[in-house]
Amino acid sequence: MVRSIAQGMIALVFTLFVFNLPAIAAPDGKALFQSNCASCHNPLKDATGPALKGVDARVPSKEWLYSWIKNSASVISSGDKYANDIYAKWNKTAMTAFPNLSNEEIDAIITYVNSVEPPKKDDGAGAATTSTAKDSTGSNWIYSMVTIILLALAFILWRVNSGLKRVANEKDGVPNVKEIPFYRNKVVIAMTVILAFIFAGYWITNGAVELGRQQNYMPEQPIFYSHKVHAGINQVNCLYCHAGAEKSKHAMIPSTNVCMNCHKQINEYTGAEEHPLVTAEGKKIDGTAEIQKLYKYAGWDPAKKDYIRDENGNIKATPIEWVKIHNLPDHVYFNHSQHTAVGKVQCQQCHGPIHEMDEVYQFSPLSMGWCINCHRQTEVQFTSNNYYSIFEKYHAELKSGKRTGVTVEDIGGLECQKCHY
Ligand code: HEC
Ligand code: HEC
Ligand code: HEC
Ligand code: HEC
Ligand code: HEC
Ligand code: HEC
Repeated sequence: MVRSIAQGMIALVFTLFVFNLPAIAAPDGKALFQSNCASCHNPLKDATGPALKGVDARVPSKEWLYSWIKNSASVISSGDKYANDIYAKWNKTAMTAFPNLSNEEIDAIITYVNSVEPPKKDDGAGAATTSTAKDSTGSNWIYSMVTIILLALAFILWRVNSGLKRVANEKDGVPNVKEIPFYRNKVVIAMTVILAFIFAGYWITNGAVELGRQQNYMPEQPIFYSHKVHAGINQVNCLYCHAGAEKSKHAMIPSTNVCMNCHKQINEYTGAEEHPLVTAEGKKIDGTAEIQKLYKYAGWDPAKKDYIRDENGNIKATPIEWVKIHNLPDHVYFNHSQHTAVGKVQCQQCHGPIHEMDEVYQFSPLSMGWCINCHRQTEVQFTSNNYYSIFEKYHAELKSGKRTGVTVEDIGGLECQKCHY
């Protein structure tokens, strides 16, 4: 009888564990940060708002942090000194209020920003895949710890029970059967095999799914072209070069002609004082020499201020072979204009602070979970958009106050065929 209790306990712990797997997963701080905060904050660098890494240590208290993020305007108007000081320091820029974030979600965001390290540089796709595991190691680590603790617990319970049984038997004068060592016990062997299968399966599928993902991928480009110099310091609009991002599926990389619109005139980099150019490895870059590389590709002679032509009058140009950074698998349909023109999503929400990058790296994981999370959380600009006039039911519900917003999920953004061919 006691023995079956012991077995029952193991089975119970086992089932509890298996059914609890999804419940263990905490809110995804990174996804929350990217969809809500990344347009203004960078964990490591000041942007529209201050760098957030370590912010929990500098603000007055945890409670302050919660109330600030939920509604910074009310903290400022309450006369709080710290709040008024940073507000003044950031030229009275208003931060968006996030009344819907729970304390737990805010904790997850803070844990995420504290965990961010400066991006690594690597130049091969092979090396890139290894850096991707980082994203999920946090939760994998928790899974492994919980498994080990639960297994140890099950084992101890089982040993205690069989010990108790022997003591009871001795007391009642029942002869004890010679004990089978636990590694020969059939129940233990069966459990071990089943668990081994489940975990091997879990790790292998996880590993396979992550193949080909390359978050933080930052390849070396043929010309050291800095987005910070162009889109940041000189305020060139993203769409000047990536016009496709508002009009079509692909954002497109500009051709050399687009560069030459400006660089027929601009033949040197004069910003080295204010913004010296350095690679992620710390190598110094001469901007003027990089512009000379552009001229080689464009077939431009800076001395004569004219294109170099062959005997037939064709310009001797070679296309610049930019290394593609973002790459969704072929079975996924992603459309830029849907997001930027219809959804009004900012480039930075998906691509991170590109205007501050000298070298572009892949900011987001581009995983299915990443797309889905954003579709769950993001409300579409429903009332001001004709595109959504077909959803009469939601319009009625919004009017009657039954509903406060419509998310991408509500308009079908989680349907498989919307994203998969
Ligand atoms: C619209 C831009 C914007 C967004 C979006 C935004 N913030 Fe801010 N945040 C600011 C600015 C600007 C400040 C500086 C204070 C001020 O001017 O209000 C700030 C300040 C802060 C501070 C105080 C920093 C310090 O140094 O004490 C915290 C914490 C913070 N933000 C967290 C967040 C979190 C978390 C999110 C996302 C849920 C977020 N912010 C989204 C603009 C923004
Ligand atoms: C003057 C032209 C120019 C402007 C302005 C510009 N870009 Fe780019 N962008 C490029 C070129 C050239 C590349 C390819 C080289 C590279 O990756 O650095 C590129 C690459 C990118 C990539 C990576 C593409 C890939 O390979 O997957 C992203 C994302 C991007 N730009 C976003 C932006 C955003 C967002 C802005 C505005 C803040 C912007 N760009 C402004 C020229 C420009
Ligand atoms: C709208 C005008 C404009 C366009 C288009 C443009 N540039 Fe520039 N570029 C500038 C300005 C302004 C500077 C900074 C000059 C200075 O600070 O002296 C610059 C600087 C540079 C530099 C030196 C700094 C650095 O980023 O390394 C390079 C190289 C360069 N551009 C390459 C390119 C390439 C390649 C393209 C096309 C993809 C391009 N530019 C398109 C305006 C432009
Ligand atoms: C930052 C948030 C965000 C991320 C990340 C995001 N989306 Fe979206 N997506 C939106 C918004 C907002 C809309 C609503 C715009 C619209 O109706 O077209 C949308 C709409 C869509 C639609 C049209 C849905 C419909 O019902 O019309 C598709 C398809 C789509 N997204 C695919 C993707 C894919 C694939 C990814 C990942 C590679 C992705 N999205 C990542 C915000 C996001
Ligand atoms: C909802 C998320 C999202 C937004 C918003 C977004 N992008 Fe992208 N971007 C992506 C994804 C995903 C890819 C990879 C697409 C692929 O591989 O097919 C990508 C790829 C790119 C590329 C590489 C070339 C291409 O078309 O594949 C450039 C350049 C780029 N984006 C620029 C921009 C610019 C500029 C904006 C703002 C006007 C912007 N993106 C807004 C998600 C986004
Ligand atoms: C919002 C867009 C979106 C929706 C909706 C979506 N997917 Fe995906 N899916 C993706 C993206 C992006 C990838 C590529 C992920 C990667 O490269 O790791 C993907 C990959 C996959 C894969 C390959 C395994 C993997 O994770 O790479 C399968 C299988 C899949 N999706 C099935 C589905 C099914 C079934 C549904 C409907 C329940 C669905 N998807 C709905 C965007 C979406």
